[in-house]
Amino acid sequence: MAHTGASAAAHMDAIYRYQRYIYDASRKYYLLGRDRLIGELAPPPGGSVLEIACGTGRNLVKAARRYPQARFYGFDISSAMLETARAAILRHGLSDRVIVAPGDATDFSGARLFGVPQFDRVFISYSLSMIPPWRAGLRQAYAALVPGGRLHVIDFGTQAELPRWFRSGLRAWLAKFSVTPRAELEAELKALAAETGARLEFGRLFRDYAQRAVLVKP
Ligand SMILES: C[S@@+](CC[C@H](N)C(=O)[O-])C[C@H]1O[C@@H](n2cnc3c(N)ncnc32)[C@H](O)[C@@H]1O
Repeated sequence: MAHTGASAAAHMDAIYRYQRYIYDASRKYYLLGRDRLIGELAPPPGGSVLEIACGTGRNLVKAARRYPQARFYGFDISSAMLETARAAILRHGLSDRVIVAPGDATDFSGARLFGVPQFDRVFISYSLSMIPPWRAGLRQAYAALVPGGRLHVIDFGTQAELPRWFRSGLRAWLAKFSVTPRAELEAELKALAAETGARLEFGRLFRDYAQRAVLVKP
């Protein structure tokens, strides 16, 4: 069943109610490419960065420490995940520069959530694969960029180049968490780039274990 709106929030809370306590320790072994994305964000001094579906706040904390002159915003549909994110932000003494709020990637407004209508950088890490209307989420993410801004995406690939046993084992594991790799992500990004005049850089990592993209808004 594809969850949306309030049903998606309840579904994500159910998945992460207990998982959030082991999330950062366990996911570092298989949510690959997140640190590379953070390294590539390079926001301008005083710039704004939004993470859509920020989960435990792991990426926001790392990025905020790496770019001390930027301001960071994040939202997530799961209030359980946000509780963990808020605690992490406080623990790292970043509450003045990292703000999180509840929000839905398929229907959000930066102005309403944070008083910031558009951002210099927007990123989505391992979340489009958990959002049934992911195409809508992608388009909203792009719309939230200032002209010249960049959208960074990292997520599971199709694993087409990996051994079949590995692929089917991973798929079965991911399905337990309602994760569906988006085989059409590249095509959707190309369509978005063609429609808007954006510049797209797309790549497959680790034999298509993961896919990454950067879309630059003109
Ligand atoms: C696999 S976690 C990724 C968290 C974080 N981005 C990271 O890289 O560690 C996926 C996150 O997407 C969130 N999520 C799922 N559907 C969402 C939606 N429609 N809007 C906002 N967040 C959503 C979940 O609650 C969860 O925190």
